[in-house]
Amino acid sequence: MTHDPYGDADLVELYDIDNPGGVDHEFYRALADEIDARRILDLGCGTGLLTRSLVAPGREVTGVDPSTTMLDHARRGPGAEAVTWVLGDADAIAPTADLDLVLCTGNAIMHLDPDALQAAFRRVAAALRPGGVLAFETRHPAAAEWRTWTREATEGTRETHLGPLREWIEVIRTDLDAAGEGVVVFDAHNVLADGTDRVFTSELWFRGVGTVSTALTAAGFEDVRIDGGWSGEPVGDNTRLLVVRAVHGG
Ligand SMILES: C[S@@+](CC[C@H](N)C(=O)[O-])C[C@H]1O[C@@H](n2cnc3c(N)ncnc32)[C@H](O)[C@@H]1O
Repeated sequence: MTHDPYGDADLVELYDIDNPGGVDHEFYRALADEIDARRILDLGCGTGLLTRSLVAPGREVTGVDPSTTMLDHARRGPGAEAVTWVLGDADAIAPTADLDLVLCTGNAIMHLDPDALQAAFRRVAAALRPGGVLAFETRHPAAAEWRTWTREATEGTRETHLGPLREWIEVIRTDLDAAGEGVVVFDAHNVLADGTDRVFTSELWFRGVGTVSTALTAAGFEDVRIDGGWSGEPVGDNTRLLVVRAVHGG
């Protein structure tokens, strides 16, 4: 068992197949265009699929991720040479005060515990220029999506470059308040043809609108906008995803 859910080079190869990017990537690319972002940093960039697609003439794009396997994969992708790749977490972001846009996509922000989140927001604020934008998405606690993360609901088998793969996820611990905010710990099981089960444990922090807004404001962000989807939907009880953008006040 490992606590780096992205630490297996074989399984990382499957990440882009499972997460090809869609309306989420379109949203972030459109945001970069809308604010005419020249300097972009993608925190928790993973395999870099979105990061590489942000490259454009006159733009500097940086991808930061603490997983060696994810970043190694990112470095091999088409167009990777146009991106600066940095191994690390938010602590690796220099306080340059010149970035136009910082992204944290694929719910990567949910890996950060409350202290790490606050510290990361401060690091990001110090790296953005006044008026620069931070954008990310995070699962909405009210939807309690983790309730469906059971072996019964998720188990399946598929053909992969490794041969047949049987996989499922299973919640092993929750510590949530009445609003569904807090931490969910789950195991991802990956059983290959030889019968070995590669188990990866993830810890995800669910936060609501108030918690996210308070943390952003405390780090010096203003104009916090939180939508209930990629098309500006209002947040409601059935909202599954919070789409967040905030402006660094300077
Ligand atoms: C679900 S993946 C998302 C990857 C990519 N952003 C995407 O949209 O496909 C989560 C990523 O967050 C990274 N991660 C985990 N802990 C992190 C931390 N403390 N700071 C930054 N990134 C982290 C993981 O290594 C992983 O690459």
